Amino acid sequence: MSDENRVILITGASSGIGAATARRLGTEGWRLVLAARSIDKLTALAEELGGPDHAVAVECDVTEWADQQAAVTVALEHFGGLDAAWANAGFGGRRSFLGETVDYWRDMVLTNVYGAALTIRATMPALTESKGHLLLTGSIAGRRAIVGSLYSATKHAVHAMGESVRQELHGTGVRVTVIAPGVVDTPFFDQVPLDDPLLGDDIARAVLYALSQPSHIDVNEILVRPTAQPL
Ligand SMILES: NC(=O)c1ccc[n+]([C@@H]2O[C@H](COP(=O)([O-])OP(=O)(O)OC[C@H]3O[C@@H](n4cnc5c(N)ncnc54)[C@H](OP(=O)(O)O)[C@@H]3O)[C@@H](O)[C@H]2O)c1
Repeated sequence: MSDENRVILITGASSGIGAATARRLGTEGWRLVLAARSIDKLTALAEELGGPDHAVAVECDVTEWADQQAAVTVALEHFGGLDAAWANAGFGGRRSFLGETVDYWRDMVLTNVYGAALTIRATMPALTESKGHLLLTGSIAGRRAIVGSLYSATKHAVHAMGESVRQELHGTGVRVTVIAPGVVDTPFFDQVPLDDPLLGDDIARAVLYALSQPSHIDVNEILVRPTAQPL
């Protein structure tokens, strides 16, 4: 299917993987609804991508149901539909069950798990209407348990939601892809823990691959590590 004028909503689009993928999809003709809390960054990115005919910025805290519903409404009212949605917002934390504060934990679980679930819930009706594509950002940390990592548990939950919602959507024509990156050089890390990590655009190309397949192909999961990553 041609990417020209298809519409995607991306959460966590203000930075890192989400912003890099917005740039790549923009050059492929996608129209973009860019969602995150940092409206200033989103507005600058939307301008860079060509302004309102091509990209719109929506202030959205993914843990807020009303914000998620409003982001979908923007897609429907501004661009006339929704062909794809990507629950990508998330963040990590220190690797210890004694690390971080309990409030930090709550925010992380709410963002990574509840926030992704809200994106699924908010976008399912429009995606069913368009026979569209739902993407979730998992992680290598969602495929193998990382020592002392509640973050890893949140990403296992995302992978489980991907499989679970794929089964629920069976028969609707909606496809579901979990994107599972290894180490990517983004502000996710204070200091990137690997020489020669992936770059945001490396993940963007994986997303584009999944989105560009003919309708009989559902790429369920893409796990991409840097060649240099041992585990
Ligand atoms: N970098 C890696 O190595 C790596 C590996 C595997 C998976 N991942 C996953 O990839 C995704 C993107 O991370 P990244 O590496 O691109 O990191 P990043 O540059 O820090 O981007 C994180 C994005 O999530 C958004 N976000 C965080 N909390 C939010 C909230 N409550 N509501 C809305 N947006 C929120 C941030 O925007 P605002 O702060 O503006 O809201 C930002 O746009 C995350 O799910 C992360 O877990 C990253």
